[in-house]
Amino acid sequence: MDSLKFAVLPGDGIGPEVMETALEVLGHVARKHNFVLQYEESDVGGIAIDRQGTALPPQTLEACQSSEAILFGSIGGPKWESLPPAEQPERAALLPLRKTFSLFANIRPGLLYPELVDASPIKSERIAQGIDMVVVRELTGGIYFGQPREIRCLDNGEKEAIDTMVYRTSEIERIAEVAIRTALGRNKRICSVDKANVLANSVLWRETVTAYVKENAPDIELSYLYVDNAAMQIASDPGRFDVILTGNMFGDILSDLMASVCGSLGMLASASLGTGKNSHGLPFGLYEPAGGTAPDIAGKGIANPCAQILSAALMLRHSFGHSEAADEIERAVHRAVSSGIRTSDIAFETQSVSTQQMGKAILSNIS
Ligand code: IPM
Ligand code: MN
Repeated sequence: MDSLKFAVLPGDGIGPEVMETALEVLGHVARKHNFVLQYEESDVGGIAIDRQGTALPPQTLEACQSSEAILFGSIGGPKWESLPPAEQPERAALLPLRKTFSLFANIRPGLLYPELVDASPIKSERIAQGIDMVVVRELTGGIYFGQPREIRCLDNGEKEAIDTMVYRTSEIERIAEVAIRTALGRNKRICSVDKANVLANSVLWRETVTAYVKENAPDIELSYLYVDNAAMQIASDPGRFDVILTGNMFGDILSDLMASVCGSLGMLASASLGTGKNSHGLPFGLYEPAGGTAPDIAGKGIANPCAQILSAALMLRHSFGHSEAADEIERAVHRAVSSGIRTSDIAFETQSVSTQQMGKAILSNIS
């Protein structure tokens, strides 16, 4: 029987509660689709700082290294906000994980079901069909990792900070390839976002994406937007997008904007795929909800588990090749929500349910 070995890193805030529900759903589809789940839980983020003195303890890293994927919860919270930036849970755990596993391809689906248009801050007549777009963000290059990077003292006594934005052709091509694969499974449209009217990085980005798509996927409809204009379009007409392809920093900003127009953070999943292949011949990946730790509701059992469950579905698809099981989970989440079962973040006229009840409703929609 196929065995799926993954590391479970629930983290802080609502992470552990939504993770528990996601693991129940995974267990259910595993029995149905005849595969075995083999996972080990490890500390990451704030809880790891409290228990082991560092946000990404060596044991956690080892557990990830001996797995084929990582199912990640969320990390951070007010308790650790006073730490120096480099020691804070998000930066001290997420960035090293991305670098260690070369998680260069961040796929963030922005999905808003037509039944939930009221959750979006966009006027409902503009998004009557819902929103169904994906941001493909380069995750291990650009200004996040370029060297030099420092704050230094000048002779006149003032300080100067330097960050370096670097992209090379091979890095742009491999993320363009991911965008092409993503678009081919959807509506075959890619909008590449850059700032080519100002940045040399963006001139190379545009040139490389254009040549690569022309050569490798001539059927794709490729368009371009400057990042400022892209932000405006996402905020005013998100329904027009299929796949957005962009670099690390622009992707960070635009994906939050996308999350906001999609209404509830509690519904958005993400995948970060690495260059390495696991024993299934598929990319090692880290799968995490977009929503964060929601400290205000942590421990109350009312958090929306959908994003964590949908992240688990992405893991089944991308790292383990169980697309049918993944489709089934995604359909079940949609059905449960459509039938009016909703946690408080997405309940409007309807009564809201607990994290566990939401999980049960999703389970009951998996035949
Ligand atoms: C994200 C986060 C991270 C990023 C932070 C926590 C380092 O905002 O995953 O989008 O900027 O990439
Ligand atoms: Mn971000």
